[in-house]
Amino acid sequence: MEGRTRGQWSSSAGLVLAATGSAIGLGNLWKFPYITWENGGGSFVLVYLACILAVGLPVMLAELLIGRRYQTSAVGALKKAAGPAWGLLGAWGVLAAFVLLSYYTVIAGWSLFYFVKSAGWSIAGYPGEGTATGLFNEQALNLPLQLALSLGFSVATVAVVYFGVTKGIERVARIFLPVLMGILVLMLISALQMDGAGEALAFIFRPGPIETGAVLEAVGHSFFTLSLGMGAMITYGSYISKKESAVSASGAIVLLDTLIALFATVIMFSVIFSVAGLRDEVGASSVGMLFISLPEIFFTQVPFGRFLGPLFYVLVALAALTSTISLLEVVTAFLIDERKVARPKATVGAGLAIFVFSGIAVFSLPGLLGEEVEGPLSGVAGFFSRIKVPFFGGPEDKVGWFANADHFVSNWMLPLGGLLIAVVAGWIMARKDTAAELMDGTEPQWFRYRVWRIFIRFVAPAAILAIIIAVISGQDFS
Ligand code: TRP
Repeated sequence: MEGRTRGQWSSSAGLVLAATGSAIGLGNLWKFPYITWENGGGSFVLVYLACILAVGLPVMLAELLIGRRYQTSAVGALKKAAGPAWGLLGAWGVLAAFVLLSYYTVIAGWSLFYFVKSAGWSIAGYPGEGTATGLFNEQALNLPLQLALSLGFSVATVAVVYFGVTKGIERVARIFLPVLMGILVLMLISALQMDGAGEALAFIFRPGPIETGAVLEAVGHSFFTLSLGMGAMITYGSYISKKESAVSASGAIVLLDTLIALFATVIMFSVIFSVAGLRDEVGASSVGMLFISLPEIFFTQVPFGRFLGPLFYVLVALAALTSTISLLEVVTAFLIDERKVARPKATVGAGLAIFVFSGIAVFSLPGLLGEEVEGPLSGVAGFFSRIKVPFFGGPEDKVGWFANADHFVSNWMLPLGGLLIAVVAGWIMARKDTAAELMDGTEPQWFRYRVWRIFIRFVAPAAILAIIIAVISGQDFS
């Protein structure tokens, strides 16, 4: 019965593509460059890379193996792995999906806007230097436009998830991921030839002082970028056939995701350091870096930029889409497996609920950009723009739903979820069960298993806890 109603990846490559598609997204193209900028480069990147290896990779394996073992969505799988109360951890993940999607969809909407804009410029010609300046804030503060863009993007997400695991999710990733990587490599090559490339590389890789908050941000982002800490990879793992292994897949996913984040950052910073005045403009609105720094460059500097520009933004949208589908799938799979709702109904219902949250994020945009809104929407917008989560909301300048949702999910919800998932896989599940999942039987892979077990039992939980405690107690490493 179960085999008939649940989907399954067509092969191990199908899993790698879908999971890499989930991992590679706005986290790599939009967020990583901008938080690297805000946290001063070098040391932040190093800490991030260390977190990916010491925390991200072991938790990736843990999530995939929990899903593969119990072949059901996160809530059910965690219950079976650790007992009924642990269903709450799955529910925590469903909640995280809602909060994350609320603002993620809005950013994805920006890429749709820039796709249409740059396609227009390609056809009609770029109106001249400075056209793209100020455009970012202008479009982001047009709230009806923002609602429409988010709605469009939500509909696209629902449309893919509607068709299920192989015909929807896997197929979309299979087509778009190779194209995305191809174009990023092209852009990297042309970025490395720009004058600012040297300065960009130095900024990204030369270590300097770092603050405690930045360390937490690096841990949090390693969860965010790998889609960990909320059950998305448990859900994807539950579609692995018992014939395929999760071990080599996780290595590939983590490696590809990290490469793409570094590529995107080198591209973005090479541009910023090469063009006069761009540094200040980006500094004033770092959230919009991806949309402020690149558009004009395509039309003034990059060879074949007229074609690459629109193509790039459509690819950003597609990278976001292969990520939002994994988030929607967490909620959908929960409704299907736990509440016995049929997939079409589950998808549309969850999609609608999530769109309501996106509306909240849209109304908080003025706060994010430090602007006041006028007109009929100003009351609502003012309210959501000023929301602040006390303490957990991070630095004083993070006001409004948008910035607080991002900060809260990425720095608190995902690391805490990841910590508990590590506890489940390392301390609660029987050793023989995890061993059976991680060793495919061809040879006794004891060494690999032992290393993983040390990381999932000690290293990952200790690292997450230490950083959380350091931040709560106000330690300063700098
Ligand atoms: N990893 C994606 C990105 O970097 C975002 C994402 C998709 C995600 N699914 C997730 C983040 C699940 C956390 C959990 O853009």
